[in-house]
Amino acid sequence: MMNGVIVIGAGGHAKVCIELLRAMERQVAFCIGGDDDAGGFCLGVPVLAGDAHLASLRDRGFGQAFVAIGSNGLRQRLGARALALGFELVNAISPRATLSPTAQLGRGVAVMAGAIVNADSRIADFAIINTAASVDHDGHIGEAAHIAPHCGLAGNVEVGARSFLGIGTKVIPGIVIGPDVVAGAGSVIVSDVAGEARIAGVPARTLRKKDT
Ligand SMILES: CC(C)(COP(=O)(O)OP(=O)(O)OC[C@H]1O[C@@H](n2cnc3c(N)ncnc32)[C@H](O)[C@@H]1OP(=O)(O)O)[C@@H](O)C(=O)NCCC(=O)NCCS
Repeated sequence: MMNGVIVIGAGGHAKVCIELLRAMERQVAFCIGGDDDAGGFCLGVPVLAGDAHLASLRDRGFGQAFVAIGSNGLRQRLGARALALGFELVNAISPRATLSPTAQLGRGVAVMAGAIVNADSRIADFAIINTAASVDHDGHIGEAAHIAPHCGLAGNVEVGARSFLGIGTKVIPGIVIGPDVVAGAGSVIVSDVAGEARIAGVPARTLRKKDT
């Protein structure tokens, strides 16, 4: 197997993830960026343009990948594609994150510096626990969900697949948040949230639909 992780993504989130992987003493071989990224570099890592490179890198013997894309749906789809091609999806965990020994992490998970994942929590594939966010005991973070920086989730909180909790969101104990939810920055979530809701505020309420 060729050495080095393939990072899918070449933007700001990819930079953070490359530094996490380097802090874990993993070498990053290539990034895969969009069609406009040809010939560029991301933190010194050569960027190949277009997802088609994933299959050719697999053919060349690269076996490990990490999806570093901010869009939750796209991260989930590209993660599934990488798995189907036979890549192992590695985790990118900051040495300055605190993970309970009883926490369970899936594949392709990012846990940034200062984040805390407490006892018996489960973090599903492709989820992001961003800088200084905390997931307290028995939390369940769904596939490709994103818990943005400085979020605070009390115990027994469940977050559905692909849901996004904006920066600084707080969630009281036992709340269930459905899939594909967007919670605005600074939300305080005090009741269960149905799937696909867009909420914000203190306490968090459904955002008014925009006029079309
Ligand atoms: C919630 C959010 C996604 C809405 O974005 P949007 O769809 O473009 O919505 P708009 O900016 O048009 O705002 C719609 C309404 O919601 C209000 N609103 C937006 N964000 C809000 C927030 N965080 N808290 C309270 N109200 C908010 C706006 O004031 C506006 O109110 P109005 O209808 O009375 O004028 C965005 O404002 C937000 O908070 N994003 C979080 C980003 C983040 O944390 N990123 C971290 C990356 S690591």
